[in-house]
Amino acid sequence: MLKKSRQELAVIKPYVPGKPIEEVQEELGISDIIKLASNENPLGPSLKAQEALVKFVTQAHLYPDGSCTALKKSLAAHWHIQPEQLIIGNGSDEILKFIAEAFLQPGDEVVLAEPTFSEYHFVSQLMGAALQSVPCRQFIHDLPAMAAAVNDRTKIVFVCNPNNPTGTAVGHAELQAFMDKIPDDVLVVIDEAYYEYVQRDDFPDVLPWLAQRENVLITRTFSKAHGLAALRIGYGIGHPNLIRILEKTREPFNVNAAAQAAARASLADLDHIAASVDVNEVGKSYLYEQFAALELDYVPTETNFILVDVGHPAAEVFDRLLRKGVIIRPAHVFGLPTFIRVTVGTPSENQRFVAALKEVIAGESSH
Ligand SMILES: Cc1ncc(COP(=O)(O)O)c(C=O)c1O
Repeated sequence: MLKKSRQELAVIKPYVPGKPIEEVQEELGISDIIKLASNENPLGPSLKAQEALVKFVTQAHLYPDGSCTALKKSLAAHWHIQPEQLIIGNGSDEILKFIAEAFLQPGDEVVLAEPTFSEYHFVSQLMGAALQSVPCRQFIHDLPAMAAAVNDRTKIVFVCNPNNPTGTAVGHAELQAFMDKIPDDVLVVIDEAYYEYVQRDDFPDVLPWLAQRENVLITRTFSKAHGLAALRIGYGIGHPNLIRILEKTREPFNVNAAAQAAARASLADLDHIAASVDVNEVGKSYLYEQFAALELDYVPTETNFILVDVGHPAAEVFDRLLRKGVIIRPAHVFGLPTFIRVTVGTPSENQRFVAALKEVIAGESSH
């Protein structure tokens, strides 16, 4: 019999991943399955990133550059910042873990929105911190209420901008007013995983704050608009003093060399990002129209996914769509029992999803 595991693990619910497509194909006997559940880029990776991966293959016997020197240089030039302001992670998930490992211990609190990205709960609880969840207002972060929830025990505030699963973003003036209320010793993590997709003009321009403020970290990723989710690579941008603290928690070779090479190539392929954003905008318009025609309420999005109220139990709708070969994310897991979250796909994927949804809703109504 093993000795007891850490008490902090008792509250952690293991992440339940979606079934692999191959398994669903086998179970349902459907070969043509579309996955609109994880907010991936339906165009896939840039051709330049693919070429970089092919070139990398002969170098697979060598350890990666643990400091990601070349990638940091490219990112610094791209965003007009210093390489010392960057930390690279095995996905931006890992950056969130660095933050928790560096700052949190039992007795500490974190403030976050409800609903928001589940990784904040996981990394915080893993370190024994308590969660102060502040309900969104009309699906948007309630920043004044979040600022009010900060107390002496608060170490971190997570601002998911735009927010997963709602797709909403807060604007520059609101975020500035929020920052003015946050004590200098509380770290504000601004997760911009969907940054490239954002359309609103007043989206916060946080980068200029980072050289001065030590208590802000932006996280971004190559998993979404860059289409490199399988490679696991994301980054944090902050004050060099903050980055130095986070670096202490990082494994020496946390980011593999294939991911570094592909990320650099992808960063240089502005056309691919532009094309990905275009496909997303076309898909958004189409889905908005279709939802409106079906009289379904949806939350206008700044991302590549849409939260929509299908008016029926989400788990059942998920199941029925699955049987038609369409995988989406049911939002009852986020406390929204009749909502689903669907990733914007290619035009043909979107059409197939809508056709399947119409059948499911019609079938549900006749029950
Ligand atoms: C808001 C948000 N942050 C971070 C991530 C994690 O991205 P990565 O693949 O870089 O770990 C996701 C992925 O879904 C996300 O939605």
